[in-house]
Amino acid sequence: MDNWIVATLAERLRAAADPLVVDLGYGATPVTAVELRARLAAAVRPDVRLVGLEIDPARVAAAATAADPPRLTFARGGFELAGLRPVLVRAFNVLRQYDENEVPGAWRTMTAALAPGGVLVEGTCDELGRLASWLLIDADGPRTLTLAAKLTTLSSPAELAERLPKALIHRNIPGEPVHDLIRALNDAWQSAAPYATFGPRQRWLRAVTHLKDTGWPVLANPPGGRGCR
Ligand SMILES: C[S@@+](CC[C@H](N)C(=O)[O-])C[C@H]1O[C@@H](n2cnc3c(N)ncnc32)[C@H](O)[C@@H]1O
Repeated sequence: MDNWIVATLAERLRAAADPLVVDLGYGATPVTAVELRARLAAAVRPDVRLVGLEIDPARVAAAATAADPPRLTFARGGFELAGLRPVLVRAFNVLRQYDENEVPGAWRTMTAALAPGGVLVEGTCDELGRLASWLLIDADGPRTLTLAAKLTTLSSPAELAERLPKALIHRNIPGEPVHDLIRALNDAWQSAAPYATFGPRQRWLRAVTHLKDTGWPVLANPPGGRGCR
Protein backbone atom coordinates (compact mmCIF):
# COMPACT_ATOMS: atom_id res chain seq x y z
CA MET A 1 0.00 0.00 0.00
CA ASP A 2 2.87 2.36 0.69
CA ASN A 3 4.05 1.77 -2.89
CA TRP A 4 0.55 2.53 -4.16
CA ILE A 5 0.39 5.71 -2.08
CA VAL A 6 3.71 6.83 -3.55
CA ALA A 7 2.61 5.99 -7.10
CA THR A 8 -0.87 7.48 -6.82
CA LEU A 9 -0.68 10.35 -4.37
CA ALA A 10 2.86 11.71 -4.80
CA GLU A 11 1.76 14.76 -6.80
CA ARG A 12 -0.84 15.65 -4.19
CA LEU A 13 1.80 15.45 -1.47
CA ARG A 14 4.35 17.42 -3.48
CA ALA A 15 1.80 20.18 -4.11
CA ALA A 16 0.78 20.44 -0.46
CA ALA A 17 1.79 23.57 1.44
CA ASP A 18 2.22 21.40 4.52
CA PRO A 19 3.09 17.77 3.65
CA LEU A 20 1.44 16.36 6.77
CA VAL A 21 0.37 12.70 6.80
CA VAL A 22 -1.49 10.84 9.56
CA ASP A 23 -1.30 7.10 10.18
CA LEU A 24 -4.46 6.61 12.24
CA GLY A 25 -4.63 3.57 14.50
CA TYR A 26 -1.07 2.39 13.88
CA GLY A 27 -1.43 -0.39 16.43
CA ALA A 28 0.67 -2.14 19.05
CA THR A 29 3.93 -1.07 17.44
CA PRO A 30 4.46 1.98 15.24
CA VAL A 31 6.11 0.05 12.41
CA THR A 32 3.56 1.04 9.76
CA ALA A 33 4.02 4.71 10.62
CA VAL A 34 7.81 4.45 10.60
CA GLU A 35 7.79 2.69 7.21
CA LEU A 36 5.30 5.04 5.58
CA ARG A 37 7.23 8.11 6.69
CA ALA A 38 10.53 6.60 5.40
CA ARG A 39 9.03 5.66 2.03
CA LEU A 40 7.38 9.02 1.48
CA ALA A 41 10.53 10.88 2.52
CA ALA A 42 12.67 8.83 0.12
CA ALA A 43 10.30 8.76 -2.84
CA VAL A 44 8.15 11.89 -2.61
CA ARG A 45 9.62 14.71 -0.52
CA PRO A 46 12.12 14.65 2.34
CA ASP A 47 10.21 17.18 4.42
CA VAL A 48 7.11 15.02 4.76
CA ARG A 49 5.84 14.94 8.36
CA LEU A 50 4.02 11.94 9.72
CA VAL A 51 1.97 11.86 12.90
CA GLY A 52 0.87 8.48 14.20
CA LEU A 53 -2.43 8.81 16.04
CA GLU A 54 -3.81 6.18 18.39
CA ILE A 55 -6.86 6.05 20.58
CA ASP A 56 -5.00 3.81 23.03
CA PRO A 57 -2.71 5.89 25.29
CA ALA A 58 -0.53 2.87 26.11
CA ARG A 59 0.23 2.51 22.39
CA VAL A 60 1.10 6.19 22.14
CA ALA A 61 3.52 5.81 25.05
CA ALA A 62 5.03 2.66 23.57
CA ALA A 63 5.72 4.42 20.26
CA ALA A 64 7.68 7.24 21.87
CA THR A 65 11.04 5.54 21.36
CA ALA A 66 10.44 5.47 17.59
CA ALA A 67 9.67 9.21 17.41
CA ASP A 68 11.98 11.45 15.41
CA PRO A 69 10.52 14.94 15.83
CA PRO A 70 9.50 16.97 13.95
CA ARG A 71 9.39 14.46 11.08
CA LEU A 72 7.81 11.56 12.96
CA THR A 73 5.71 11.98 16.10
CA PHE A 74 2.98 10.10 17.94
CA ALA A 75 -0.07 11.40 19.75
CA ARG A 76 -3.41 10.39 21.10
CA GLY A 77 -6.26 10.93 18.67
CA GLY A 78 -9.27 9.45 16.93
CA PHE A 79 -11.33 10.12 13.82
CA GLU A 80 -11.30 13.87 14.51
CA LEU A 81 -7.53 13.68 13.87
CA ALA A 82 -6.57 15.55 17.05
CA GLY A 83 -7.11 18.93 15.38
CA LEU A 84 -4.52 18.23 12.66
CA ARG A 85 -5.14 19.17 9.00
CA PRO A 86 -3.29 16.45 7.05
CA VAL A 87 -3.23 16.10 3.29
CA LEU A 88 -3.33 12.31 3.64
CA VAL A 89 -4.75 10.00 6.30
CA ARG A 90 -4.12 6.28 6.19
CA ALA A 91 -6.45 4.26 8.46
CA PHE A 92 -5.75 0.58 8.08
CA ASN A 93 -7.44 -2.27 9.93
CA VAL A 94 -9.18 0.28 12.13
CA LEU A 95 -12.78 0.37 10.91
CA ARG A 96 -12.89 -3.41 10.77
CA GLN A 97 -13.32 -3.20 14.57
CA TYR A 98 -16.45 -1.09 14.19
CA ASP A 99 -19.99 -1.81 13.02
CA GLU A 100 -20.74 -1.20 9.36
CA ASN A 101 -23.23 1.53 10.25
CA GLU A 102 -20.45 3.50 11.97
CA VAL A 103 -18.35 3.70 8.82
CA PRO A 104 -20.02 6.65 7.01
CA GLY A 105 -19.79 8.81 10.14
CA ALA A 106 -16.12 7.92 10.65
CA TRP A 107 -15.36 8.78 7.00
CA ARG A 108 -17.20 12.10 7.34
CA THR A 109 -15.34 13.01 10.53
CA MET A 110 -11.94 12.16 9.02
CA THR A 111 -12.51 13.82 5.64
CA ALA A 112 -13.89 16.96 7.31
CA ALA A 113 -10.58 17.30 9.14
CA LEU A 114 -8.41 17.02 6.01
CA ALA A 115 -6.57 19.91 4.43
CA PRO A 116 -8.25 21.17 1.23
CA GLY A 117 -7.82 18.51 -1.46
CA GLY A 118 -6.79 15.93 1.14
CA VAL A 119 -7.65 12.24 0.96
CA LEU A 120 -8.26 9.26 3.20
CA VAL A 121 -6.98 5.75 2.43
CA GLU A 122 -9.06 3.27 4.43
CA GLY A 123 -8.91 -0.48 4.24
CA THR A 124 -8.15 -3.91 5.56
CA CYS A 125 -5.46 -6.57 5.12
CA ASP A 126 -4.62 -10.01 6.43
CA GLU A 127 -2.06 -10.51 9.17
CA LEU A 128 0.85 -11.00 6.77
CA GLY A 129 -0.19 -8.26 4.36
CA ARG A 130 -0.61 -10.70 1.49
CA LEU A 131 -4.25 -9.81 0.87
CA ALA A 132 -5.41 -6.23 1.14
CA SER A 133 -8.02 -3.85 -0.12
CA TRP A 134 -8.58 -0.18 0.39
CA LEU A 135 -10.71 2.75 -0.60
CA LEU A 136 -9.51 6.18 -1.64
CA ILE A 137 -11.97 8.61 -0.10
CA ASP A 138 -12.25 12.36 -0.43
CA ALA A 139 -14.79 14.93 0.74
CA ASP A 140 -17.29 13.59 -1.83
CA GLY A 141 -16.98 9.97 -0.65
CA PRO A 142 -15.19 6.87 -1.97
CA ARG A 143 -13.44 7.34 -5.34
CA THR A 144 -11.62 4.06 -6.00
CA LEU A 145 -11.31 0.54 -4.62
CA THR A 146 -7.92 -1.16 -4.79
CA LEU A 147 -7.45 -4.92 -4.50
CA ALA A 148 -3.91 -6.04 -3.71
CA ALA A 149 -2.48 -9.53 -3.34
CA LYS A 150 0.85 -11.28 -3.14
CA LEU A 151 0.32 -13.21 -6.32
CA THR A 152 2.73 -16.05 -5.58
CA THR A 153 0.54 -17.14 -2.67
CA LEU A 154 -2.85 -16.31 -4.17
CA SER A 155 -5.03 -19.32 -5.00
CA SER A 156 -7.91 -17.26 -6.28
CA PRO A 157 -9.04 -13.61 -6.13
CA ALA A 158 -12.08 -14.79 -4.16
CA GLU A 159 -9.74 -14.83 -1.15
CA LEU A 160 -9.81 -11.05 -1.24
CA ALA A 161 -13.48 -11.10 -0.20
CA GLU A 162 -12.41 -11.84 3.39
CA ARG A 163 -10.32 -8.68 3.49
CA LEU A 164 -12.61 -6.10 1.96
CA PRO A 165 -12.97 -2.74 3.72
CA LYS A 166 -15.67 -2.67 6.37
CA ALA A 167 -18.04 -0.79 4.07
CA LEU A 168 -17.96 -3.70 1.60
CA ILE A 169 -17.16 -6.89 3.49
CA HIS A 170 -20.78 -7.55 4.46
CA ARG A 171 -21.91 -6.70 0.93
CA ASN A 172 -20.31 -9.69 -0.76
CA ILE A 173 -23.72 -11.22 -1.40
CA PRO A 174 -25.67 -11.73 -4.63
CA GLY A 175 -27.17 -8.51 -5.95
CA GLU A 176 -24.40 -6.28 -4.59
CA PRO A 177 -21.87 -4.72 -7.03
CA VAL A 178 -18.85 -5.85 -5.01
CA HIS A 179 -20.11 -9.44 -5.21
CA ASP A 180 -20.36 -9.11 -8.99
CA LEU A 181 -16.85 -7.67 -9.09
CA ILE A 182 -15.25 -10.45 -7.05
CA ARG A 183 -17.08 -13.08 -9.08
CA ALA A 184 -16.06 -11.48 -12.39
CA LEU A 185 -12.44 -11.23 -11.26
CA ASN A 186 -12.49 -14.81 -10.09
CA ASP A 187 -13.97 -16.03 -13.39
CA ALA A 188 -11.37 -14.03 -15.32
CA TRP A 189 -8.60 -15.54 -13.15
CA GLN A 190 -9.89 -19.05 -13.92
CA SER A 191 -10.06 -18.28 -17.66
CA ALA A 192 -6.51 -16.93 -17.52
CA ALA A 193 -5.18 -20.20 -16.01
CA PRO A 194 -3.02 -21.00 -19.10
CA TYR A 195 -1.05 -17.81 -18.44
CA ALA A 196 0.13 -19.27 -15.11
CA THR A 197 2.86 -20.91 -17.21
CA PHE A 198 4.42 -17.45 -17.45
CA GLY A 199 3.95 -16.75 -13.75
CA PRO A 200 1.12 -15.46 -11.54
CA ARG A 201 1.78 -11.85 -12.50
CA GLN A 202 1.04 -12.57 -16.17
CA ARG A 203 -2.07 -14.47 -15.16
CA TRP A 204 -3.23 -11.55 -12.99
CA LEU A 205 -2.58 -9.03 -15.75
CA ARG A 206 -4.53 -11.14 -18.21
CA ALA A 207 -7.44 -11.50 -15.78
CA VAL A 208 -7.59 -7.78 -15.02
CA THR A 209 -7.27 -6.86 -18.70
CA HIS A 210 -10.23 -9.14 -19.40
CA LEU A 211 -12.17 -7.45 -16.62
CA LYS A 212 -11.46 -4.07 -18.17
CA ASP A 213 -12.34 -5.29 -21.68
CA THR A 214 -15.69 -6.51 -20.42
CA GLY A 215 -16.64 -3.09 -19.10
CA TRP A 216 -15.45 -2.92 -15.52
CA PRO A 217 -13.99 0.53 -14.78
CA VAL A 218 -10.48 -0.68 -14.06
CA LEU A 219 -8.09 2.24 -13.79
CA ALA A 220 -4.74 2.21 -15.55
CA ASN A 221 -1.68 1.18 -13.60
CA PRO A 222 -0.38 4.11 -11.62
CA PRO A 223 2.93 5.36 -13.03
CA GLY A 224 5.70 3.24 -11.55
CA GLY A 225 3.10 1.17 -9.74
CA ARG A 226 3.25 -2.58 -9.54
CA GLY A 227 -0.41 -3.50 -9.50
CA CYS A 228 -3.66 -3.07 -11.34
CA ARG A 229 -6.29 -1.07 -9.56
C1 LIG B 1 -5.68 -3.85 14.30
S1 LIG B 1 -4.83 -2.40 14.80
C2 LIG B 1 -4.19 -1.86 13.23
C3 LIG B 1 -2.75 -1.51 13.26
C4 LIG B 1 -2.18 -1.02 11.95
N1 LIG B 1 -2.90 0.10 11.40
C5 LIG B 1 -2.10 -2.16 10.96
O1 LIG B 1 -2.87 -2.16 10.00
O2 LIG B 1 -1.28 -3.04 11.13
C6 LIG B 1 -6.14 -1.24 15.06
C7 LIG B 1 -5.72 -0.05 15.91
O3 LIG B 1 -6.68 0.99 15.76
C8 LIG B 1 -6.79 1.66 16.99
N2 LIG B 1 -8.07 2.39 16.96
C9 LIG B 1 -9.31 1.89 17.03
N3 LIG B 1 -10.20 2.88 16.90
C10 LIG B 1 -9.52 4.03 16.74
C11 LIG B 1 -9.87 5.37 16.54
N4 LIG B 1 -11.15 5.77 16.50
N5 LIG B 1 -8.90 6.29 16.40
C12 LIG B 1 -7.58 5.91 16.46
N6 LIG B 1 -7.19 4.64 16.63
C13 LIG B 1 -8.13 3.71 16.76
C14 LIG B 1 -6.71 0.56 18.03
O4 LIG B 1 -6.31 1.06 19.29
C15 LIG B 1 -5.68 -0.37 17.39
O5 LIG B 1 -4.38 -0.09 17.88
